[in-house]
Amino acid sequence: RPHGVLAGKRILVTAGGTREPLDPVRYLGNRSSGKMGYAIAEAAALRGAEVILVSGSTGLNPPRGVLVKMVETAEEMRQAVLAEYAACDVVIKAAAVADYRPKEIAEHKIKKTGETLTLVLEKNPDILRELGALKRHQILVGFAAETQDLLGNAQEKLAKKNLDMIVANDVTLPGAGFNADTNIVKLIYRDGSVEELEQMPKKRVAEIVLDRICDLLTKRG
Ligand code: C5P
Repeated sequence: RPHGVLAGKRILVTAGGTREPLDPVRYLGNRSSGKMGYAIAEAAALRGAEVILVSGSTGLNPPRGVLVKMVETAEEMRQAVLAEYAACDVVIKAAAVADYRPKEIAEHKIKKTGETLTLVLEKNPDILRELGALKRHQILVGFAAETQDLLGNAQEKLAKKNLDMIVANDVTLPGAGFNADTNIVKLIYRDGSVEELEQMPKKRVAEIVLDRICDLLTKRG
């Protein structure tokens, strides 16, 4: 493996899911475990990169040799990521960011009154799309967790968010996606090429993703 390429490179990884508060005791969250992003952060640090991990809440221990910044909401993640972006060589966005958040956060615990309760949500910023628009020298890698039309949806995200590579996984397959220790992914590039990987541990997916990023960095020169 080309370990040397990442030595001294500044790599930002996001991982885990965001939590969007509803009232002082409740939030809207998702099933992201953080395992994929943490595996990438740890592997990059072992290759000599300077790694910053911006993480939503997970049950995971912080990887060794990585600077961890814990965040809760998408907006907090956005602030943390934007603060680091200019100085980064590579950004890998493995986090599951909430697309919507409660429009209002109740000051007090919402009471059990009516038979139904309607929540009004408003759109969160798309952090990766913003990074794509601001991109200069950075290699930008996204993830796409899909339940249908995996390739089509992922290719559209790659284009819309101006990414260099997207890691697509069908979260409905057993042995893939949220909380699993293995994943089944396709790596998709700007030139339209697709690399299909078999089911493998997330730690191994992390190594291959980093290998491909090394290739992209080398090609860029
Ligand atoms: O949510 P979506 O499927 O569009 O996510 C694709 C990529 O965009 C992921 O890498 C995710 O981390 C990123 N994303 C983001 N901000 C959002 C939504 C998604 O950075 N609000």
